[in-house]
Amino acid sequence: MKILSSTASELAANEFADPSFSATVIAWQKKHGRHALPWQQTRDAYRVWLSEIMLQQTQVAAVIPYYQRFLSRFPDVQSLAAAPSEEVMAHWSGLGYYTRARNLHRCAQRVVAEHGGVFPRDPALLQDLPGIGRSTAAAIAAFSYGVRAAILDGNVKRVFARVFGIDGFPGSKPIEDAMWRRAVALLPEQGVESYTQGLMDLGATLCVRGKPSCNTCPLAQRCVALATDRVGQLPERKPKKAIPERQTGMLVIVDQRHVLLEQRPDSGIWGGLLSLPEISTSDNVGAAVARATATIGEVASCEALQPFTHVFTHFKLQISPFQVALARRADGVAEAGQVWYPAERLADAPLPAPVKKLLLEVFREADLFA
Ligand code: ADE
Repeated sequence: MKILSSTASELAANEFADPSFSATVIAWQKKHGRHALPWQQTRDAYRVWLSEIMLQQTQVAAVIPYYQRFLSRFPDVQSLAAAPSEEVMAHWSGLGYYTRARNLHRCAQRVVAEHGGVFPRDPALLQDLPGIGRSTAAAIAAFSYGVRAAILDGNVKRVFARVFGIDGFPGSKPIEDAMWRRAVALLPEQGVESYTQGLMDLGATLCVRGKPSCNTCPLAQRCVALATDRVGQLPERKPKKAIPERQTGMLVIVDQRHVLLEQRPDSGIWGGLLSLPEISTSDNVGAAVARATATIGEVASCEALQPFTHVFTHFKLQISPFQVALARRADGVAEAGQVWYPAERLADAPLPAPVKKLLLEVFREADLFA
């Protein structure tokens, strides 16, 4: 008796299976897809590979003249492998992303040395070569040898995100893994070449990022993004990096209904405004307070107030305020660009908003406006 068993990921992949998806893509590709691109006129794996590497980060129109010039100089993998690297780079010059050219050359040398000059048909072996990732390996295997292997490049991710209504950033590991399972499950039994080209063509010509042509899209009827009016929101963009945080200590030095303020430098945050004297909070706060108050007077007490965060466009400022009471006030503040500012004028003072808010709270609580 045959025992049927499935792994969890195979079961999950089967969940995504839908033969009508590939049938729709293939029928559309045959009628409306691209058929005259130079690399579509061959099954020669060397040419297919070359086109796929050139197309990794470059648009079709820019690739075509490079592809043709490259092939006239390096007509096969042996000539490329044997060429001096300067000459390979010279023929790539202008296409950009030069790591591709260095990997291309190394890949050609390995195909000659390790595979007798014939590109392998197994996507796993292709993927082991320099510059060939999982999606490129699948495209080469499908176009050159008709191997049923799934592609998943940026364009295909966009098509999937919209058609299947997939939330989350497609570059994140869990979303990408789920998309790969879906890509494998959706592969047709027959016609992988037309299907693969069809997915690429849809992503490049109709289901584009900016203004997609949903009215002529063969997948419109089943497109979740279109049905839920989220075509513009999917795929989700890469989440912004967390903005950096800086720390500062601010001294609220109060004496006789006055607070000590200082003029900020003209450039930088809060340029030219008045603000509180600041100390570094990264080392000994007591010593920093002593240093900052050396010319101001004798400290009677220092109390940490509730810290808070102020958010700027490019960073967050974590503010730790300290309320300092003086036992005796010195006269040396003027030289340091500092002023004793009367409490009753604080509401109209040229202060940064969070500093003004802090001071008004401190003074109100201590009843210093009385
Ligand atoms: N982008 C990546 N591979 C492609 C191909 N074979 N045809 C068109 N665009 C592509």
